[in-house]
Order: sequence, then C-alpha cells, then structure tokens
Amino acid sequence: MADQDAHTVEGRHATELPAIRWEEPPEGPVLVLLDQTRLPAEEVELVCTDAPALVEAIRSLAVRGAPLLGIAGAYGVALAAARGFDVDEAAVALQGARPTAVNLSVGVRRAQAAHRAVLTEGGDPQQAAAAALAAALALHREDAEASARMAGHGLALLDELLPGGGHRILTHCNTGSLVSGGEGTAFAVALAAHRKGQLRRLWVDETRPLLQGARLTAYEAARSGMAYTLLTDNAAGSLFAAGEVDAVLIGADRIAADGSVANKVGSYPLAVLARYHHVPFIVVAPVTTVDPDTPDGASIEVEQRPGFEVTEITAARVSIGGAGGGVPVAPLGTQVYNPAFDVTPPELVTAIVTEAGVVSPVTAAALADLLSGQVAQ
Ligand code: MRU
Repeated sequence: MADQDAHTVEGRHATELPAIRWEEPPEGPVLVLLDQTRLPAEEVELVCTDAPALVEAIRSLAVRGAPLLGIAGAYGVALAAARGFDVDEAAVALQGARPTAVNLSVGVRRAQAAHRAVLTEGGDPQQAAAAALAAALALHREDAEASARMAGHGLALLDELLPGGGHRILTHCNTGSLVSGGEGTAFAVALAAHRKGQLRRLWVDETRPLLQGARLTAYEAARSGMAYTLLTDNAAGSLFAAGEVDAVLIGADRIAADGSVANKVGSYPLAVLARYHHVPFIVVAPVTTVDPDTPDGASIEVEQRPGFEVTEITAARVSIGGAGGGVPVAPLGTQVYNPAFDVTPPELVTAIVTEAGVVSPVTAAALADLLSGQVAQ
C-alpha cells in the first residue's frame, strides 16, 4: 500500500531543501521529496515510506526530471529492500512509473543489481539492503559530480561558439538543482555563465501545459540572482526573429543511439527555430541519458499525459497528476493531444554536452565513441 505523507517545512528556506534525501528516523527509513507540484507557491516535503508511494510521486511529477528520476528510482529500490518488501516487484513498478526518461530504469537497475549481487554471494537481506542504499547514494553523488563537469564543458563550448560573452540563452522546461544531485544540466551551464558574468539574460519558456519553466526554472533563476525573463512558449518565434537569442540550452530525457533527443514537448519546435535563425541548439545531459538500446527517435516511447492537464487550469497548484478539478478552459469532452515529450532529430542538434565531453556533430558513431569512453574531456 502506498504510504505517502506530506508536511510543510516551516522556518527553512527552500534553497536549503534538497530535491530528494534519504532519512533514517527511528520509525524506519524514508525517502523525503521536495514536492515539485506545489512550487513555487509552497515549499512542502513529501515523505515516502514505500515504493508505491514513490511511484505515485513520480507519476504526479512531485519528483521529476531525468537525472532525479534515476536517483529516485535507485532510492526506491533501497527503500523497498530496507522495509522488507519484494525488491523485484518494486523495481518493476518503479521502472514503469514513467516511460520516457531512461535514467529511471538505469537508476532502478543499478540498485537492484547491487541488492541481487549480495544475495547471490550469500549475504543476508540486511546486507543486500545496505548494498542497494550504497548504490543509490553513489548515483546521487555521481550525478552531482557529473553536473559540475557538464557545467564546465558547456561553458567552454559557449565561449567557443559565442566569443565575447553577454549570452542571451533560451531554455525550456526545468533543468536545475530540482532535477539533479547537483546544479542540474542545461541550467547548470547557464548558472556557470552567470557566475562568470557572461550571461546577459536567461529566456525561460513557461513550458505548457504543466509550467515547469514558469513554476520551477523561474523559481531557480530568481534564487540564483540571474537576469531572466519568462515568455509563453509561443513567443519564442518572435524572440528569435528579433535576434534576441544567442543559444538554446535544454536537457534531455532520452538520447537514442542515433543522437535523436527526447525532451519536454516544445523542444523540437525550438530546434527548428534555432536552425532557421542560425542559433546553436545545445543539449546538456549526463551519459546515463544516452540509451544505446534505443536505436533511433521513432523507437523512443513518448509518455502521453491526461487531457485535463490541457483542458483545465487551476490558480496556485496546477492540476498535475490529480483528477483535475481546475477551471475548464475547453468544452467538456474535448479530445486532447498531450504528449509530455517530443523528439528532435540529431541533424538539428549542434552539440550534446555530457560530463564525459562534448559530442559535435551529433552522429551515431560519435555517441558510440562517447559511450566507450573515447571522447576528449
Ligand atoms: O515531465 P518532466 O518535468 O519530468 O520533464 C523534464 C524534462 O523534460 C527535462 O527537460 C529533462 O528531464 C531534462 S532534466 C535535466
């Protein structure tokens, strides 16, 4: 049974609240999540005591973004093991919670393999649970390290592509510390440019329908003190036409072996705009987001979300993952096309920045080299 409890954290500034953390109170281990469905209006933590609660948190987008989903998945396995639940059953449920971000499966499988290895070697369930937790903690730590390295590589690439600084960067969805053990992916690059005095402005797409840009990226940008401006997704075209965008920086949920990039819906139109306006379109993602088992863009499963996310709007808390209940903005019974992601073909991607180096041009061979560790740092 899902056991999820939400509580508001009083007297703590949100920047002190990590997106995810493992705790071991006397009542037993828990996974504590910053509930991203409530931001920026409320900073509320969600406490999961079992895997079904975490599955629900993933589906409702309380915890979201590819790298963080990987970390959450690994902790979910550790939680099931530590609480004495069936680990393989939990792993199946966690992996199936959302289909597109490959990091979720990668994280789950890593903790599950660590757990299984101990049992296979004759260890007891307690030792196996400890191994699963160690795997999750390692993944969490590695993601923070990867984030810092991506920021460094991304900044160097911006220096190369846009000499002179003063960058005006457009971003989509949310890719900062809310999706990472560190400072994120694309947002971490913008943050590094900001700290070096090289970011003139971060253009933040609101990211319909669930407003990850408006609710989360604007929240992170405001806290970091960078100059940022929020725009509706549809305003991006006129912004490019006005010559106001120097580069697009986005994250990724899955990168196929041919270099096709699945990311939040609305990314592909930005890539088309960027190509038309001769602006670099840069994807920033950890190596774990590259999936050699997905041959091409057409093979990426794109999550379809419920129609009420488009047909209803609520004031403070957007109707994320719930049963709707917002103000209707479309006639009752309207059919909705609501894919959570779209796929950008590799020929529209200027570069993929990873912690292991930069891939440009984006080709299947260059990605294969990256995965076999041959890309120069
Ligand atoms: O549906 P979400 O909010 O999980 O989608 C997240 C994104 O599309 C991010 O851009 C992607 O996961 C990259 S995060 C570094």
